[in-house]
Amino acid sequence: MTARKIYLDNSASTRVDDEVVQAMLPYFSEHYGNGSSTHQFGQHAKQAIEDARQQVALLLNAAPAEITFLSGGTESDNLAIKGIAAAYTERTQRKGHLITSQFEHPAVLTTCGVLEKEGWRVTYLPVYQAGLVRTEDVQAALTDDTALISIMHANNEIGTIQPLQEIAALIQTRREAGQKHLYLHTDAVQSVGKIPVDVKTLGVDLLTFTAHKLHGPKGIGALFVRKGVRLVSQMHGGHHERDRRAGTESVPLIAGLGKTAELARLHLTERAEHTRRLRDALETGLFDRLSGLSRNGDEHQRVPHIANLNFEHVEGEGLQISLDLKGVAVSTGSACSSGSQEPSHVLMALGLPRDNSYGSLRFSFSKDNTQEDVDYVLEILPAVVEKLRKLSPRLKLQATGR
Ligand SMILES: Cc1ncc(COP(=O)(O)O)c(C=O)c1O
Repeated sequence: MTARKIYLDNSASTRVDDEVVQAMLPYFSEHYGNGSSTHQFGQHAKQAIEDARQQVALLLNAAPAEITFLSGGTESDNLAIKGIAAAYTERTQRKGHLITSQFEHPAVLTTCGVLEKEGWRVTYLPVYQAGLVRTEDVQAALTDDTALISIMHANNEIGTIQPLQEIAALIQTRREAGQKHLYLHTDAVQSVGKIPVDVKTLGVDLLTFTAHKLHGPKGIGALFVRKGVRLVSQMHGGHHERDRRAGTESVPLIAGLGKTAELARLHLTERAEHTRRLRDALETGLFDRLSGLSRNGDEHQRVPHIANLNFEHVEGEGLQISLDLKGVAVSTGSACSSGSQEPSHVLMALGLPRDNSYGSLRFSFSKDNTQEDVDYVLEILPAVVEKLRKLSPRLKLQATGR
């Protein structure tokens, strides 16, 4: 074991900023009122919630009334997809059609699967070797009863950025031709705070994000719902969050999310440049030092903080454990699927052979990483890879000519 601790798994979760912690603390102890109460304690809490809503709206270029707070990315994806589907069924008395991609996060894929069991038709678009949805495939999949297209903004394992603006333009054309209730949802959990995310420029109707991927607390996120879009609430109870999400608001977490959004907006460019510099230094250094290395997904159309690399003839899980023993935290798949024996559904969707999917690692950076972190990984990783390759049964077979 080693005292060294290098965290390169920031796409799984990030360290909460000290300023964010400070912003939350008073709402645990001093201002503990319920945001729905009319007395001063309640009004203080209410004010904190509305201040945070303003900050999130500013980050996304939305209106505060378009932001709903809920427990995170998973709930936000669920509400967007099920809420739009239920509104469609209420309007038409029918089940319709959904379009998504093969490499969405399980929060989207599983939700679509549930609706499929209930009678919805779902098209899962291919993403090809580059890890990019093609607009012509969206166009070909659209039908008169398509209610929702849900395509992630940036993929959580390989970081590729999807052509949302082009998809939004397709939707606009269909709306003008009379298909008024066709909407675009995006899971932007891995892009908000990493690249500019402007709901108007992207042309999305619904957008999901969560605080813990950008130095905020776990258990809090938001759903942007463009003004005029109706969805049916999936949580029943009091009249919180404009009847979109019942349940007493978690004021400390919401205050934390507000501060997280403010810091993400103010430091967006510098954080993006910092992570890009480190990510590129790692990639360049590894390509210089190792053979049998390739990048998963498009090199250019991707967020600046993720590198997903394939190490030929190495088992990713073994590599990850060896790095962990040397104090370096990375991941083989997404946090939700790591530990599973199945290869990553994202890498399989790229059409990689099963072996390559097993031999891949995701390195994900944040503002807290340093050049020293990269230097250390470059110092130790090549030797670890070579050692594991020597143990590889496949290479042994090749060496003995079998
Ligand atoms: C793309 C994506 N969507 C959704 C989620 C789920 O977010 P949360 O952990 O807040 O439920 C994650 C987190 O891993 C993610 O990466």
